[in-house]
Amino acid sequence: MTSFCIVLSGRGSNMEALADAVRDGRLDARVEFVASDAPDAPGLEKAHRRGIDTVVLPYASEGKENAERRLSGLCSARGVEWIVLAGFMRILSPEFVTAHAGRIVNIHPSLLPSFPGRDGIGDAWRFGVAVTGVTIHLVDAGIDSGRILAQRAVEIFPEDSLENLEEKIHTTEHALYWKTLSELFRTGVPAERRWRR
Ligand code: GRF
Repeated sequence: MTSFCIVLSGRGSNMEALADAVRDGRLDARVEFVASDAPDAPGLEKAHRRGIDTVVLPYASEGKENAERRLSGLCSARGVEWIVLAGFMRILSPEFVTAHAGRIVNIHPSLLPSFPGRDGIGDAWRFGVAVTGVTIHLVDAGIDSGRILAQRAVEIFPEDSLENLEEKIHTTEHALYWKTLSELFRTGVPAERRWRR
């Protein structure tokens, strides 16, 4: 069975959606552990309550290089095949990305390449676009720039608020991430560009 880890920094709603998909058998894979750079990330506590192993990566105490070394070490010790980022707010070093090339996946709350960066939802909202969405992509050394695996559009209507847009984006994320991973784990990275909706 494919095994993966989830790396997050905050709330962990995507982690929960993935853990639910695993629990219900929609995603045929195993969550080896959930890691976070933030010891107080609510997502860590949520994972712990589900009986998933949790790890704090020592970014604050030991720096990025050691924190990444710890993550790499855990992945090889636990046979982790895929590193799934779900709200991880740090940038991985080019060395880490190269060492795990094509094996790191991220979810971003906009239709990339529009609105990369920390606030994809707010940036799209403030720009005034009529359509934004969700992107799932492989991680490369750039910021939100890796190969796109799946996208789904979310329309913004005049009656929407930023809060309500955030809700629509997150609901879309929760529906799309497990499906995309399920296909990725079964068939690998597609040889040709192929879009999932
Ligand atoms: C999501 O919107 C994800 O796209 C972005 O960070 C957010 C994390 O939310 N990368 P959560 O922690 O999964 O609730």
